[in-house]
Parts: sequence; C-alpha cells; structure tokens
Amino acid sequence: MSKTKTILLNKRPEGKPQLSDFKFTEEEIPALDNGEVLIKSLFVSVDPYLRGRMRDAKSYVEPFELHKPISSGVIGEVTESKNSKFKKGDYVSGMLAWKQVQKSNGSGLNKVSKEDAPLPAYLGALGMTGLTAYFGLEEIGKLQEGETILVSGAAGAVGSVVGQIAKTKGCRVIGVAGTDEKIEMLKEEFGFDDAFNYNTEKSFSKAIGKTCPDGVDVYWDNVGGSLSDAVFFHIN
Ligand SMILES: NC(=O)c1ccc[n+]([C@@H]2O[C@H](COP(=O)([O-])OP(=O)(O)OC[C@H]3O[C@@H](n4cnc5c(N)ncnc54)[C@H](OP(=O)(O)O)[C@@H]3O)[C@@H](O)[C@H]2O)c1
Repeated sequence: MSKTKTILLNKRPEGKPQLSDFKFTEEEIPALDNGEVLIKSLFVSVDPYLRGRMRDAKSYVEPFELHKPISSGVIGEVTESKNSKFKKGDYVSGMLAWKQVQKSNGSGLNKVSKEDAPLPAYLGALGMTGLTAYFGLEEIGKLQEGETILVSGAAGAVGSVVGQIAKTKGCRVIGVAGTDEKIEMLKEEFGFDDAFNYNTEKSFSKAIGKTCPDGVDVYWDNVGGSLSDAVFFHIN
C-alpha cells in the first residue's frame, strides 16, 4: 500500500451528522524520520463525545478543526519503526487520526498485548471507558467495601464496568437501565445484586427504596434527569 485514506471533518454538522459533513481523501504514505513509527489502524473508537468535538464550542476538550482529520482512540500495528521503543509487529493504542496508515513520534502511544486481552478491549474496559469507571470510583466516589452503589445507564459502556469493579470491591451494586433484557443481563452476566427498568417503574423513589433498603452511598450518574432527583432522597 503506497497511499492511505483519511477521514476529515468537512463541515460542522447540524443535528445528526451526515455523510457530507465528512470528506474522504487519499495521500501518499509519508517516509519516516528518526524517532518515528508507521502505524496501520486496526480498530477505531467511535464515541458519543466526538459529536461534541465537531461543534466549535468551548468544552473540556478542543473542537476538531475543519478540513483536518478526525481523531479518537485507535489500536494499530507498527509496520515500520525508527523509534527504539517500538518494533515492527508491536500493537499500540493512542489518540490517533482516522487514517488507514499514519506516522507518529511515539508520544502518547502505549504498547498493548494481544495475549492479555482481545485488542478492541483496549478501547473499552481496558481503555478510556475502564479508566473513567476506575478513577471515578476510586478518586471521586471513593467507594468502600460494603457500601451500596446505584448506577444509572448501567448497561452502557461505562456503567457496566462501574458495576463490575464495584462488585470486586465487595459492594452492593444496583443498576438502572431501559429494557428488561438489559436488567436480566446486569443481574445474570455482570453480577449486579439487583436492577430496575426505568421505563416500566412507576415510582423511581419506591424502586430505589426497595433495591437500596440501607440507602445509597455512591450514586454513579450517567444520565441525569428525574432519576437523579429521586436518588437524592435516598442518598446517605
Ligand atoms: N465511554 C467513555 O469512555 C466515557 C468517558 C468519559 C465520560 N463518558 C460519559 O459517561 C456517560 C455514559 O457513557 P457511555 O459511553 O457508557 O454511553 P453508552 O454506552 O451509550 O450508555 C449510555 C446509556 O444511557 C442510557 N440512556 C440514554 N439516554 C437516556 C435517557 N434519556 N434517560 C436514561 N437513560 C438513558 C442508555 O441505556 P438504556 O437503554 O438503559 O436507557 C445508554 O445505553 C456519558 O455521559 C459519557 O459522556 C464516557
């Protein structure tokens, strides 16, 4: 392959992003300078927050520039290296451009191992999602053994990891999700102690009282809204 495809932000979407908001271009694969590596993209994370970055607005992360490549978490394979920290065949994760092939000076790249976990897991439970769950619980929630934690958006990417980490800490874990299938999955697959469906419960307050009889020590709020209002009456 001598050329690489890139996906650029062509214009800022209004409402739901359209194909015309993006542009697909082709360019020559660049030659490497000393200290650089060439990376072939294998897995690209497409996250809800990327929609926010397509807006030209102040946020916790810079907006994407128009006519420049979109970037996000990417898992790739090193196909050529002039950097002593990486060799051909290494798998890496990093915040990289949406390109089939790109070069990097190695800054912000982490090696990942196919033997330890399937590569896409480094974009999920072992990537930003897992770090969000872990540090939120450790540094913000300061969850302690024996406490009760209630998780909204519990069957989602972050919520499902939050619940599983909380179980390893010996906590009572209650999830809230929007379908009976998700409730079943939370209890049967992810080991939550209990869960309720916010679409079928008539009173959130009663459901919280029933599932958290000793109150809620930590509330992991992924969605906000009227569920959060109800939780405040049960918070310890
Ligand atoms: N993923 C990350 O790495 C990451 C990193 C930092 C911060 N965050 C933040 O963490 C939160 C969760 O992200 P996520 O990646 O876990 O998202 P996700 O996988 O899309 O899960 C979110 C869940 O929220 C529920 N939901 C959506 N709209 C709702 C509404 N109006 N009322 C109640 N529930 C609703 C949906 O589940 P139901 O079908 O059960 O309603 C959905 O599955 C977001 O605020 C996100 O910005 C995520």
